[in-house]
Formats: sequence, structure tokens, C-alpha cells
Amino acid sequence: MDKITVPKVKRFKGKKIITALTAYDFLTARIVDEAGVDIILVGDSVGTTVQGLNSTIPVKMEEMLYHTRIVSRAVKRALLVGDMPFLSYQTSESDAIRNAGLLLKEGAEAVKLEGGSSVAKLIEKLVVSGIPVMGHIGLTPQSVNLFGGYRIQGKTESKARRIIDDAISLEQAGVFSIVLEGMPEEVAAKITNSVNVPTIGIGAGRYCDGQILVITDILGMDPTFKPRFVKQYLNLYDEIKNAVSAYANDVENGKFPSEEHVFHLKKKE
Ligand code: KIV
Repeated sequence: MDKITVPKVKRFKGKKIITALTAYDFLTARIVDEAGVDIILVGDSVGTTVQGLNSTIPVKMEEMLYHTRIVSRAVKRALLVGDMPFLSYQTSESDAIRNAGLLLKEGAEAVKLEGGSSVAKLIEKLVVSGIPVMGHIGLTPQSVNLFGGYRIQGKTESKARRIIDDAISLEQAGVFSIVLEGMPEEVAAKITNSVNVPTIGIGAGRYCDGQILVITDILGMDPTFKPRFVKQYLNLYDEIKNAVSAYANDVENGKFPSEEHVFHLKKKE
């Protein structure tokens, strides 16, 4: 098993396309890890995918610690990244270092946080404290209220320039990779060519150093959420619903449990 580390991810740039997925629980993380995905992110998307929230903003630090802890029990090969939820790093440098450090204590090998040049100084502090940081720019979901919705960012030349500058600031601050979310692929391509750290795209087109998606999206667990940038590989919503209906039917019709599922008294002492 070739364990994926932060330096390895950096060395992948230009040599190997990086694969990444989110995971929030032990069993799913074990499947993702055993399938050979390079990076597993315990994303604050846990809020919308697991907790039934409308955004990631209410997700709490203790919830990220819990999900990181249970995912880390499954991950053997992939690089495990823990997401910093809203208000876990914006309040002060010491809050950011403490919270990022707590994610590492739960088994994360790096943390991810949202923002460009405005968080560059903070990232420098984290990195000198021994905490590897993955950046995240473009459509950063924790800023949904500033954006007025989940809107593709960097569509004009001046806005694209700002995102490219953000990527350069993050690289200078010491990130080992940058998630590019929700932007024209031309902008993502320019960023990928402008920085020496790998870019990992989600809704950012083809010209990134890697791709990340949310596990529940590729598995088709939510029939109400099918964004253009997702490729759905399974219809798990229908698969699970059919299985659950079949089980309920069997129980109601006395077909389950049957002989093969029951225990009997010993014939003789
Ligand atoms: O929280 C998350 O899942 C993410 C990815 C979509 C990049 O930030």
C-alpha cells in the first residue's frame, strides 16, 4: 500500500491526476479508501448531505471532530483532510490553530479552509505550526450569503483576476493544494498553470490537477439535487428504497424471517 501523504500530493502535480471524494462515516470511508481514491475530505458538506441543513454555515466544530474521528478509523491509504467549519478559523489565529490542531488529533493529516488572500496570513501561521493546509477558492459555500446564492464565481475578467490572485496568495502562504469550486474552466486552467501546487476542481472544469466530488452526489442519494457539474454513477436512492420496500413487504407477508434466519434449540443436551 502506497500511503498518500502531503508531500506526495504536491509531487503529483503534472504527473498524476489526483482523485478526491468526501466521506462522513466509517463504512463509506472504508469503501472510498479501498477503491484507491487519493484524498478523502471530511467536508463541512456533512451539513447538507447528512444533517439535512440548507447550507454548511450551521455546522459545528464538534461535529467535524466527530466525523473526522469515525472516518479516520477506516482510512489506511488516502490522505485524510478535515474541513474547518464556519467560525472555527475566522475569529482569531489562536482559534484557528486550536481547531485545526484538534482535527489533526482526531486523525486528519491536513485541514481545508475557505478563502483567498484574506486568509493567507492565517494559513502561514497554521503551516508553521505543523498543520498542512488545503486552500479553497471560487464558490466558497461558507460565503453563500455574500454571493447571494450558490453562483459560479469569476465570470468576468476582473473577477477572474481576483480569484487567480487569491490562488497565488494561497500558494505563497504555504498551502499544499487548492480546491477550485464553481468557476469557468478557463479560470481554473489559468490558476492550474499559475501555481506550483495541485489544483483540485469541483465544478471547475477539466483543466485542474485533480477532481473532487461529494460522495452522496456520485452515488445518487438525493433525487432533488443534480447539479450540472456532478456525474452520477449510481441511483442509490432507488436502490435503497427498493430494498427497504422489499424488506417491509417480506415482514408484512411473513416471508422474513424464514428457516435460514432462525435459531433452534439443541436437539440433545
Ligand atoms: O465540504 C465539502 O464537501 C467541500 C468540497 C465540496 C470541496 O468543501
